[in-house]
Amino acid sequence: MHLTFCRFLKCSMFLIKTMAVPPTYVDLGKSARDIFTKGYGFGLIKLDLKTRSENGLEFKSSGSANTETSKVAGTLETKYKWAEHGLTFTEKWNTDNTLGTEITLEDQLAKGLKLTFDSSFSPNTGKKSGKIKSGFQREHINLGCDVDYDINGTAVHGAVVVGFEGWLAGYQMTFEAGRNRVTQSNFAVGYKSDEFQLHTNVNDGTEFGGSIYQKVNDNLETAVNLAWTAGNSNTRFGIAAKYQIDADASFSAKVNNSSLVGLGYTQTLKPGIKLTLSALLDGKNINAGGHKLGLGLEFEA
Ligand SMILES: *[C@@H]1O[C@H](CO)[C@@H](O)[C@H](O)[C@H]1NC(C)=O
Ligand SMILES: *[C@@H]1O[C@H](CO)[C@@H](O)[C@H](O)[C@H]1NC(C)=O
Ligand SMILES: *[C@@H]1O[C@H](CO)[C@@H](O)[C@H](O)[C@H]1NC(C)=O
Repeated sequence: MHLTFCRFLKCSMFLIKTMAVPPTYVDLGKSARDIFTKGYGFGLIKLDLKTRSENGLEFKSSGSANTETSKVAGTLETKYKWAEHGLTFTEKWNTDNTLGTEITLEDQLAKGLKLTFDSSFSPNTGKKSGKIKSGFQREHINLGCDVDYDINGTAVHGAVVVGFEGWLAGYQMTFEAGRNRVTQSNFAVGYKSDEFQLHTNVNDGTEFGGSIYQKVNDNLETAVNLAWTAGNSNTRFGIAAKYQIDADASFSAKVNNSSLVGLGYTQTLKPGIKLTLSALLDGKNINAGGHKLGLGLEFEA
């Protein structure tokens, strides 16, 4: 009896803790966004490979062919996690011949503090860029400050999200040192629980957006999305749903006010092998063609 109570207490403490840390600014409204974007790959044939060795080395490679332009693109990524020191090293390469290195240090200097050093280099063009990202999170607050430099100069991105009992408010801005002014200023307010999420945002005082995510039951998730620009009466909107058919298969569908209908089907063929089929149909010209298909295969070992 006593033990059960302790376990219950521990579990609820954990829940309170994990719920009280708000997401980063860019992750606000993510659940709704995921319903609109995951499980689709229109006009692409895509292959992903993921392997992991016991000593903490992860290897990821991905290749895709665009069925319209026949352009083939690929990426390679290796990641090494040194868990006891909170360190992660990532090396990236892509077919545009850009090399990237990322080093992340988490929970070391202070609990909740994450530092990332990210640099990329293109040997063909000699272009270099770099980023120092810092994030700090604890109950009720999530802070982020990134500094990047490239040929355009240095930019500072700052973001803060505060949360209280499910309510979230966030502010994000970009300051460009070369131009000595704030070039972006975004604001967001929302509400988040496990079953329901509301997100609204205003970017630079002119771009408005809103989304609602709802987990209807264990199998069905839905999302609605709205966007408009100040001084323009054209509202863009879309609805999307994802239905988990069984443990191995899910079906997604979305439609927006341009009558573009997206359909997606994901099936785990065997543990570690996932197949994704998708189609984009133009609802206004269903017989005229111009539809797009997509095929994706993911292997994970
Ligand atoms: C630099 O600025 C130009 C024009 O503002 C922009 O098109 C380009 O994408 C920027 N380059 C980088 C690496 O951000
Ligand atoms: C729907 O989407 C298009 C963009 O494709 C936009 O121009 C149009 O005004 C939107 N709104 C309505 C209500 O049709
Ligand atoms: C409508 O949906 C399609 C496919 O999901 C997307 O490519 C397109 O940009 C959307 N249009 C608008 C106006 O949101």
